[in-house]
Amino acid sequence: MKVVAFNGSARKDGNTAILIKTVLAELEKEGIETELLQLAGKKIRGCVACFKCFANKNQRCSVQKDVLNDCIEKMVGADGIILGSPTYFANISTELKALIDRAGMVAIANGDMYRRKVGAAVVAVRRGGAIHAFNSINHFFFISQMMVPGSRYWNMGFGLEKGEVEKDEEGLRTMQVLGENMAWLLKKINA
Ligand SMILES: Cc1cc2nc3c(=O)[nH]c(=O)nc-3n(C[C@H](O)[C@H](O)[C@H](O)COP(=O)(O)O)c2cc1C
Repeated sequence: MKVVAFNGSARKDGNTAILIKTVLAELEKEGIETELLQLAGKKIRGCVACFKCFANKNQRCSVQKDVLNDCIEKMVGADGIILGSPTYFANISTELKALIDRAGMVAIANGDMYRRKVGAAVVAVRRGGAIHAFNSINHFFFISQMMVPGSRYWNMGFGLEKGEVEKDEEGLRTMQVLGENMAWLLKKINA
């Protein structure tokens, strides 16, 4: 079994990455293969609303000039998908929104490509707005007919500067429990 994780932060190896890696460590303890892809610095733009994906039906976005189709391939090939984002103005990052809009539309055009995969949202935040970002990611999972495990708190960790989230013990514990529950659900679904 495999879980692919995307860090939507514009900042590589920051708080979102630390939170995601905490979830991945638990998954690996349970024997689940993981991969982390960081969107920082990568070329990725939003949906151009051409709807060619409905005509082409080839599991690809017709805009081929950026990393989006590579991301879709990783998502299709995984049993579980983690989408992580920092909170930017009480929402997800532009990079993650671009991934969701395009990977989401291609999936609908091709018969719900992520149906019954397991999804988990991870959010880094300094002070406020994380729950809205968390909901934005979960809206994508639910409309994609994905299965979403919970944790002991909503999946967020607090910090501003790179690495500051390490001080948020409850946030890290939330990520560990999320990893345990995600592994449990993956094993049930794929039994
Ligand atoms: C453009 C921008 C907008 C932000 N907006 C918010 C916000 O609405 N609420 C908040 O608490 N923190 C906000 N922050 C702070 C980040 O969410 C916080 O530093 C987070 O830990 C960054 O994660 P990263 O290290 O993975 O990039 C913002 C940061 C940036 C760069």
